[in-house]
Amino acid sequence: MNILAIETSADETAAAVTNKRKVLSNVIYSQILLHKKWGGIYPSLAKRAHEERIDQIIDETLIKFTKVEVFHPEGGHARIMQNIDYIAVTQGPGLAIALEVGIRKAKELAEKYNKKIITVNHLEGHIYSSFVQNSKGNPKRDFKFPYLVLIVSGGHTEIVLFKNHMEFEVLGETLDDAAGEALDKAGKILGLGYPAGPAIERLSSQVENKDFYGFPRPMIKSGNLDFSFSGLKTSFYYFIQGHSGKREDEKSERIQNRFWTSQNDKKLTELASSFQEAIFETLLIKTEFAINKTGINKLVVGGGVIANLYLRKLLRDLVKKHKGEVYFPTYKYLTGDNAAMIGVAAYYKAQKKMFAPDLNFDRIPRLTL
Ligand code: KG4
Ligand code: ZN
Repeated sequence: MNILAIETSADETAAAVTNKRKVLSNVIYSQILLHKKWGGIYPSLAKRAHEERIDQIIDETLIKFTKVEVFHPEGGHARIMQNIDYIAVTQGPGLAIALEVGIRKAKELAEKYNKKIITVNHLEGHIYSSFVQNSKGNPKRDFKFPYLVLIVSGGHTEIVLFKNHMEFEVLGETLDDAAGEALDKAGKILGLGYPAGPAIERLSSQVENKDFYGFPRPMIKSGNLDFSFSGLKTSFYYFIQGHSGKREDEKSERIQNRFWTSQNDKKLTELASSFQEAIFETLLIKTEFAINKTGINKLVVGGGVIANLYLRKLLRDLVKKHKGEVYFPTYKYLTGDNAAMIGVAAYYKAQKKMFAPDLNFDRIPRLTL
């Protein structure tokens, strides 16, 4: 069963062709450079960039799928589309005007080539990303339900019980900022650019990921599995303000520019590492709580933040302590947003005949699991 999958929920325009769990072809165009100077995703720019690129991305994906060197738009699609069984598209959660672009394209192709659509929840995609295989079917790992899932991305921080294919129960989630979002905001205060996660990882490793300032670990005594990172970011902001001798009403960027040019790198690495440690330790504490609460020691982790090798090590150590197993996306492109994970999740929906009944469905920006 070949699925053409499309993902445009945030700042990656992506398409893939998958067969069961195998990725036969995959193309991702990241808009990061467009959004960098805004310190986050600028919605109307994202929409326009998706619109400008989507046809080309889909063409490239189909060319790779068929290994055809020269693509002939006239008739080329029709021939290739004969080998596509379904079209999958991200329905939400995400940015409404960005989701719209992928959905419109999926509907257009479905109508033209008479295909059924499978709508996929972006978070289902991140969950399945640890089970995505390359074109040769590696890694072979099989499903052994149930799993605990930790999703850590720029938009989401969730702990989910993964009971069986397409059977999820959200056990806890962030009440405000996601872990990646908090890292990005702290990074912005430090002048590290967007997205800041990779820079924070690099700086922290220079000081062996130590904690120098003891920022708060939010909600660790809440007795539940929810998160809240917005207060941590605020306390970080005020801490920096207190140490930079600036005025209360100054914008963070100006503080950062004036402050950091006059400070040494040591302080920067120590602050980055301490903030990262506060986020990661909170994730660890909650994940361990979930393991103890459910008795499930098989952990699946997905989302952009799990590109962080130090977080992987912490989670590996945690699971080892509980004599369990941990699964990460095997290939780096699968940690961030991509359409391959959407295609693989769609396959398990197709198995259960979960097709969109017609083409009248809409995007759901706040779709939950
Ligand atoms: O999953 P993703 O690509 O997009 C969403 O669905 O949100 O996640 C993006 C997030 C950003 O916040 C980015 O800073 C973070 O993942 N990230 C990292 C690393 N690489 C990306 N965070 C920590 N360490 C990294 N190496
Ligand atoms: Zn994502």
